[in-house]
Amino acid sequence: MKRPDPIIFIFKDSGNLARDLARRICSLVGETREPGRKFNLALSGGSTPRKLFQELAKTCLDPGTWDDVRFFWVDERCVPPDHPESNYRMAHDIFLGNLPQTENTVFRMRGEDNPAEEAERYGQLILEMVPEEEGIPEFDLILLGMGGDGHTASIFPGQTELLWTDRLCDVAVHPESGQKRITLTGKVLNNAVNVFFLVAGEDKAGMVAAIIGGPDRKDLPASHIRPRGHLYWFLDQSAATLLNKKQNPG
Ligand code: 6PG
Repeated sequence: MKRPDPIIFIFKDSGNLARDLARRICSLVGETREPGRKFNLALSGGSTPRKLFQELAKTCLDPGTWDDVRFFWVDERCVPPDHPESNYRMAHDIFLGNLPQTENTVFRMRGEDNPAEEAERYGQLILEMVPEEEGIPEFDLILLGMGGDGHTASIFPGQTELLWTDRLCDVAVHPESGQKRITLTGKVLNNAVNVFFLVAGEDKAGMVAAIIGGPDRKDLPASHIRPRGHLYWFLDQSAATLLNKKQNPG
């Protein structure tokens, strides 16, 4: 069954992108749900989400807004939670640290633990806590970034078995640094109701054009993200400069 084509939003700059995306996410989590139904959100790390988290901390902290939201991670570096490279630390210090009572709503990947054991634990955790669709956890929203090499989550070129494995969460290795990472697998990423790619900066323009505008690039992990639900790309102008007019009518 053909999956819906991506919807592309292009913003003047990364600040406008972050403001619009924060507004959309705030509205999405505020939508009425049946009593007891949680909103399951998986966050990516890296540098791009920083402005988004700053916006959410600035504009979306009304009491109760996040009470029914559960925060998970798409991936985590195998470092302690207070390490400068920790994806959890970045989200916590900028945004989540402002929320009350997060022990039952924030579920970090334990980067300080044995990677294989933590991947197993986290896979079990999301299976237990996130409603499943066809036996796979179905997140309401997954926020993804994209590296300049076309990786997403911590699924790097040359490690595309992580897209197809039956495991829900697995161990990856950064191709340059050798750093181990815990990552959700393609099976989970492609089972989401909504996937938002958040990509900014001229250094990503070539890869954005290759993945969105060009012929199928099987070698690029981000090109394999086609969720059952909706796929959105939130780009700033710099990242969209090489998209042809067809994709970039704005
Ligand atoms: C991570 C992310 C990773 C990130 C891309 C883009 O742990 O680093 O999950 O997939 O989204 O590498 O990173 P930047 O936003 O820093 O360009």
